[in-house]
Amino acid sequence: MHTNKTLWKDVQGNPIQAHGGGLLHVDGVWYWYGEDKSGPTRRYERPDGDPIVRVDVVGVGGYRSTDLVNWEPMGVVLKAKEAAYYDLCPTQVMERPKVIFHKASGTFVMWLHIDRPDYKLAGAGVAISDKPEGPFTYMGSIRPQGRDSRDQTVFVDDDGAAYHICSTDMNATTLVTRLSGDYRSLSAESKSLFIDRYMEAHAITKSHGKYWYIASGCTGWDPNPARSAVADSIWGPWEELGNPCRGGDQPEMTWSTQSTFMQALPDDRVLVMFDRWKREALGESAYVWVAADVSAGKFELSWQDVWSGFK
Ligand code: GAL
Repeated sequence: MHTNKTLWKDVQGNPIQAHGGGLLHVDGVWYWYGEDKSGPTRRYERPDGDPIVRVDVVGVGGYRSTDLVNWEPMGVVLKAKEAAYYDLCPTQVMERPKVIFHKASGTFVMWLHIDRPDYKLAGAGVAISDKPEGPFTYMGSIRPQGRDSRDQTVFVDDDGAAYHICSTDMNATTLVTRLSGDYRSLSAESKSLFIDRYMEAHAITKSHGKYWYIASGCTGWDPNPARSAVADSIWGPWEELGNPCRGGDQPEMTWSTQSTFMQALPDDRVLVMFDRWKREALGESAYVWVAADVSAGKFELSWQDVWSGFK
């Protein structure tokens, strides 16, 4: 059992470094991948923008579990500097890694937000491995349809089709792009959604026949009211449902958190994962996981003091 709004520990008693992360379920094992932000937090003066608080890139932390509570560390599965790629240098930005499994080839495919410290590259990076524990091999980064990509996630539908979802047009628009058949690149099939709604921290899942979506507004590490939406197709039309958080401390500010991932659970609920960013020490940012019952077609998240796994 883990207390929400704390920095959870792995089974060895060390803080879990998997911020901005997501889950993957393969052959009865759950994998949690996210940003290892264990280095010192420092201020970066952007030449033509507001200063930003950052941690040099360590890599992507990986954990595994069979109950979504006890997490065994797999180590840093994609390390900064491991390959001779500028994108992976500690001084750059690597955020919101998500891993999906390509069954036909047995490949674990990781998508990440790749950026420069001024956030002007705005690319989508890809890394692959034939084992969940890595090491992942970095393949490079692209821009979907030549457009900027920030705060990305990936989602695999029931039919095996996979999608890349990101903020584009300087965060004004949400862009959905279908991945290629091998999940390693982007197809030409894409659509702009939530135009001029300025959303980030996108997460999508499918449950009870509908697509459920959560995101934040754009206030950097600071919290803001979450947005949610429901649709019958990933391409929309999406019906916005507002901030789904109820109860607890400051639900109107998403309990001082920002969304990162949604997962339909075997117990029929939808798990929503949040980061509670601690901007003065980003590596101490806490986790908040809550599960919702969407069977009645509503999306409401009731505060839970603890995350204790499946029902
Ligand atoms: C947030 C974003 C985070 C990180 C941060 C940097 O808006 O969701 O992933 O990029 O800004 O300030």
